[in-house]
Amino acid sequence: MTQNGPTRRKQGHAKNMVTYSSENTPPRYPREYESWITVKDSRRVFMRPIKPTDRNLLLDLFHRLSDQSIFLRFLEHRQELSPELLDRLTVVNYVSDFAIVATAVEKSKDHIIAVCRYHCDRDTGVAEFAIAVRDDWQGMGLGKEMVRRLIDIAKKNGIRRIEAVVNSSNKVVMKLINDLWRKSKG
Ligand SMILES: CC(C)(COP(=O)(O)OP(=O)(O)OC[C@H]1O[C@@H](n2cnc3c(N)ncnc32)[C@H](O)[C@@H]1OP(=O)(O)O)[C@@H](O)C(=O)NCCC(=O)NCCS
Repeated sequence: MTQNGPTRRKQGHAKNMVTYSSENTPPRYPREYESWITVKDSRRVFMRPIKPTDRNLLLDLFHRLSDQSIFLRFLEHRQELSPELLDRLTVVNYVSDFAIVATAVEKSKDHIIAVCRYHCDRDTGVAEFAIAVRDDWQGMGLGKEMVRRLIDIAKKNGIRRIEAVVNSSNKVVMKLINDLWRKSKG
């Protein structure tokens, strides 16, 4: 990955590296939402819209989430993501259905360390959002930044209302939403 956008690394230079290039970019992929951010402990993270080729990276994220984070994200205990659900989570239309991922290189491999998405119901026009940050990356400012960006994207895509169904014990996400809400009111 480079400052100017992700590139494919030379073979043999970094074995097993999953990188992003125009070769695995789907039609209508909104490259304008790609960018680097620096989190609280100064690590650099690349944010971008999700792609269909992210199935394995998303599965890797799921397998690294704690049971508690899985429960708070899916509102149920879950051991696996079915192939059908993986399809739904990775193949989006970038308008009524959108997801951004945060990626980081660890031990010379790319990993998805967080994902934030909305899905807009065509009948009601209301979008529901959900987010999961890998446990060892929580508290770094990623969640707040991703939700902020997702709300901006939703607005640009004409979505007027966005909701989240959260467990009543989930004080962190409630604070995050309240903070962003207050900020948007000025
Ligand atoms: C909720 C979640 C997305 C927050 O993401 P995150 O990257 O850890 O959050 P941030 O680092 O951006 O922190 C946001 C705010 O919450 C605070 N916070 C973060 N973790 C906290 C914790 N464990 N306890 C108390 N406050 C915490 C931060 O200090 C920050 O406040 P600030 O802006 O005043 O500094 C993340 O914890 C997560 O993925 N949880 C499991 C899944 C989930 O709950 N999803 C939400 C339902 S869909």
